[in-house]
Amino acid sequence: MQVKYRDLEADLAKKLEAMFGVANGGMIEVNPGQVLIPPKFKDVAQRIVDMEVHPDDVWLVSYPRTGSTWTQEMVWLLGNDLDFQGAKMLQQLRAPVLELTALLGNDTSGVIKLIGETVDIVESMPSPRFIKTHLPLELLPKQLDTVKPKIVYVCRNPKDMCVSYYHYCRLMHDLHGSFEDFCELFLQEKVPMGPIWNHIMGFWKRRNDPNVLFLKYEELKKDLRSCVLRCAKFLDKTLTEKEVEAVLDHLSFESMKNNPAVNLEPVLEYRKTALMNQMAEDQITCLQAPSFIRKGVNGDWANHMSPEMAARFDEWNEKHLEGTGLSFSA
Ligand code: A3P
Repeated sequence: MQVKYRDLEADLAKKLEAMFGVANGGMIEVNPGQVLIPPKFKDVAQRIVDMEVHPDDVWLVSYPRTGSTWTQEMVWLLGNDLDFQGAKMLQQLRAPVLELTALLGNDTSGVIKLIGETVDIVESMPSPRFIKTHLPLELLPKQLDTVKPKIVYVCRNPKDMCVSYYHYCRLMHDLHGSFEDFCELFLQEKVPMGPIWNHIMGFWKRRNDPNVLFLKYEELKKDLRSCVLRCAKFLDKTLTEKEVEAVLDHLSFESMKNNPAVNLEPVLEYRKTALMNQMAEDQITCLQAPSFIRKGVNGDWANHMSPEMAARFDEWNEKHLEGTGLSFSA
C-alpha cells in the first residue's frame, strides 16, 4: 500500500488556520483514512506502513485523549512483571508513541530534543517492544495482520474525548478557537488525526481476535481492578492480590498525576517557558491551569457542553453506533 498526501481543501484550511494560528492548521491530509496530521509525517508514513512487526511486540492503539497513557502504563507494568523501578523512566522512552516526532511538527514542545526521533527509537528497541500509536489501522504496519502481535485498543465516549482533546490542543497546540468551534470540528471529524469513528470501528471489528484486547475508558474508571485482571490474562500473566493492589495504587489518578514519568511534566515545563516568553499575562494563566493528566472523570462534558451541543453529539453517536453492538455509558 502506498501512502498518499494532499493539501486540505481551502475552506477547511482557512478554518484550521484561524483556530490553530498556523497555515492549514499545520496539517495535511494523509490517505488511506483521510487522516489530518502535520506534513512532517511524510518523512515516516511509508516507513511505518512497511515496518517490521515482532511477534512479541505489544501495541497500544487509540484515538488521542482516550486514557491511552493510563492504559499504556497498565500494559507496560503488567508486561514487564511489575518493574516499578523501570517504570520511573519516561513512558515516552520505554513505550514510545510511534509517530510522535512527526506529530510535533516544528517541535515547539522540545520533545524531540528530549527523546529523539520516535520511529528510530521503536526500530532499535530490544524485544519485547511496547509501542503506542494514535494512527488508525489503515496507516499502521501491514505486518500487524500477518504477525499478529498483542494489540490493546482503548476508546472513550466521544463527548468526554472532545472535551479532553480541546484542553489538550490548548495546552500543546496553541488552539485558540472556542470550545464550540472545536466541537463543530470534532463533529465533522476534522480535528488533528481526523476520522474518529473509522478509528474506533477498525478495532471494534477485531475485538474478538485472540490478539486484540478492546477496552473503554469508562470501564477502567468503573472497575480498574477487573481491567487489570483482564489485561494480565491477555498478556499471560498471573498476579497475587498484593501485586494487584500495587498496580492499582500506581494507576490511581492521584499517583499518575504526580508521576513525572507519565504526566509530561518535563515536556510541559519546557513548552511553558518557551511560550511564556511570547504571551500576554492572561494567556499565561490559562496555559498554566490545565495539565496533561487533567481531571480524569467520566461525564465532564456536562460542565462544558450546552444541552443543544450534547444532543447533537448524542445523535451523532447513535448514528455511528447503530447496529455495531458498541455503546458508551457516559
Ligand atoms: P481528561 O482530560 O478528561 O482529564 P490520553 O492519555 O489518551 O491523552 O488521555 C488523557 C485522558 O486520560 C485525560 O482525561 C486524563 O486525565 C485521563 N487520565 C490519565 N490518567 C488517568 C487516571 N489514572 N485515571 C483517570 N483518568 C486518567
